[in-house]
Amino acid sequence: MRRPMVAGNWKMHGTCASVAELVQGLAKMAIPEGVDVAVFPTSLHIGLVLDHLKGRSILVGAQNCAHEAGQGALTGEVSPTQLQDAGCKLVLVGHSERRQIMGEGNEVLNRKFAAAQVVGLTPILCVGETLEQREAGKTLEVVGQQLDSIIEELGIDAFVNAVIAYEPVWAIGTGLTASPEQAQEVHAAIRAQLAKKNSEVAQGVRLLYGGSVKAANAVELFSMPDIDGGLIGGASLNADEFGAIIRAAGN
Ligand code: PGA
Repeated sequence: MRRPMVAGNWKMHGTCASVAELVQGLAKMAIPEGVDVAVFPTSLHIGLVLDHLKGRSILVGAQNCAHEAGQGALTGEVSPTQLQDAGCKLVLVGHSERRQIMGEGNEVLNRKFAAAQVVGLTPILCVGETLEQREAGKTLEVVGQQLDSIIEELGIDAFVNAVIAYEPVWAIGTGLTASPEQAQEVHAAIRAQLAKKNSEVAQGVRLLYGGSVKAANAVELFSMPDIDGGLIGGASLNADEFGAIIRAAGN
């Protein structure tokens, strides 16, 4: 049985005051026994969030990391070592906003993924197609290539300690959600692709869905056999809404 995970990607949102308020709301929440919960504040707010969540079972992760594990001369970056030292457990790799807006390609993402694992951080690899690619019937091809890039470079065992998030770009922040069937189709294809290399790894890896998940659609999405939770953007900025999504994963 895979343990469901609900992860909140706060993106470039929050002030010290608003983050403190959000985290106080989260700290009061009862987390269902069988669910892993993680939040991803900006690097600037990671310390603050960890302080407020001390003793709680909510994990904290980073939205990005440098492509080298150790410290060094790399202005503006935060290394996996530093994230691990600060108390982070996870890091997002390859979110579509980083692929598309920051121009990160597979080569650098492979390095970030590997660097995170070197220091014991769990990478959450984000994959997903654009609307244009979906309409051209290329969804499985695009997602398959994004996944293959890691498998070819780092081997299938890289997914023993990793999470994958399928996030169709057209569903992110748009209010459009993939239907449970559309999401399940891609999740099943991802698992099948991994299973070709190693079925045990494929069965063990958690596949999260992301893209306009909210309390109102979470139950249906999470009830699909290959959807093991969600990566939540906008709705994770509201403690009550995020709490309702977490409860949906506990059902
Ligand atoms: P959204 O974002 O829930 O606001 O659509 C999801 C994400 O980008 O991870």
